Amino acid sequence: MQIIHSVKELQQWAKEARRNGKTIGLVPTMGFLHDGHMSLIDTARANGANAIVVSIFVNPIQFGPNEDFDRYPRDFEHDRAMCEARKVDVIFAPAVSDMYPQPLTCHVAETTISQKLCGRTRPTHFQGVTTVVSKLFLAALPDLAVFGQKDAQQAAIIRRMVRDLNFPITIITAPIIREADGLAMSSRNKYLSADEHQRALAISRSLFAAQKTVKENPEIKAAELIGAIRSAIEKAGGVVDYIELTDSETMIPQEEMVPGGHHTIAVAAKFGATRLIDNVQLN
Ligand code: PAJ
Repeated sequence: MQIIHSVKELQQWAKEARRNGKTIGLVPTMGFLHDGHMSLIDTARANGANAIVVSIFVNPIQFGPNEDFDRYPRDFEHDRAMCEARKVDVIFAPAVSDMYPQPLTCHVAETTISQKLCGRTRPTHFQGVTTVVSKLFLAALPDLAVFGQKDAQQAAIIRRMVRDLNFPITIITAPIIREADGLAMSSRNKYLSADEHQRALAISRSLFAAQKTVKENPEIKAAELIGAIRSAIEKAGGVVDYIELTDSETMIPQEEMVPGGHHTIAVAAKFGATRLIDNVQLN
C-alpha cells in the first residue's frame, strides 16, 4: 500500500494505473475509519475497481466557524492499519497546505439540493464538500467513487454535480452500516457519552418504526410519521434539527408520499453537543 500526500504524485499514480488498464475506485473520507468506511471499499471492489484509493482528509472548508474542525477525531495509524487490512492500493493523505496551497477563489457549488436539510443549519458545508470532492476527483482520476447512504443528502448532491458538470465518474451509493444496537456508525459517535449513545438510539429506533408503519399503512400522512419520530427523539432528550420526508433520488423534501415513489426520511438531531444524522428508505 502506498501513502501519497501530494496531488501531483497521486495524478501521476492514477495516469499510470489507467495506462495499465486498471479501474480506479475512490473512497473519499475524513478518516477515523470505521466499518461504514470499510464497506465503501468493499462496494468499490464489488463494482469492478481493482485499484482502490482511500482519501483521508479533514477538509477545513466544509466546517462552519463554530463547528468541530479542530477537535474532529484523527488517528492516522489506526486508519493506515484498517486500509492495509482491506488491501487498499493507495491512501491519499494530503496536508491542508497540499490541498489548499493558497486560499481558493474558485469553488464548486450545487445551488438547490444543498439549501435544504443540513444546508439550512450548515450554509457553507456543501460547497466545501462539492469543492473538495471535485479536487479529489481531479487528483485520483477515478472510474468510480463510492459514497455512503448515511450522508444521503451529500450523495444526492454529488450525483447531481457529476451529472451537471460531466465528470466521467460512476457514483455508487452504499448502504448505512450500523452498530449492533442500531446507531448509524459515524466518526462523531466518539463524542457521545455512554448515556448519550443510549438515548441517541431513539433516532434509529423511531426511523425503523416509521418504516414498519408505512409497510402496514402506506396511506399514512407524512406529518403523522414525522410527529412520531419527533416525539420519540424529544422524549429521549434529543433536540431535533430537522425531520423530513424526501424524494430518495434528490433528497428534496416532499409534503406527502407519492404513490409508487421512492422516499427517504432524513433526521438530524443533537444529543448533548453532538449532532447526529440518520435516514431510512421507506419503499
Ligand atoms: P466521512 O464522514 O469520513 O465519510 C466518508 C464516507 O463514508 C461518506 O461517503 C459517508 O457517507 C460514508 N459513511 C460514513 N458513515 C457511514 C456508515 N455508517 N455507513 C455507510 N457509509 C458511511 O463524508 C465525508 O467524510 C466528507 O464529507 C467527504 C465526502 C470525505 C468530503 O470531505
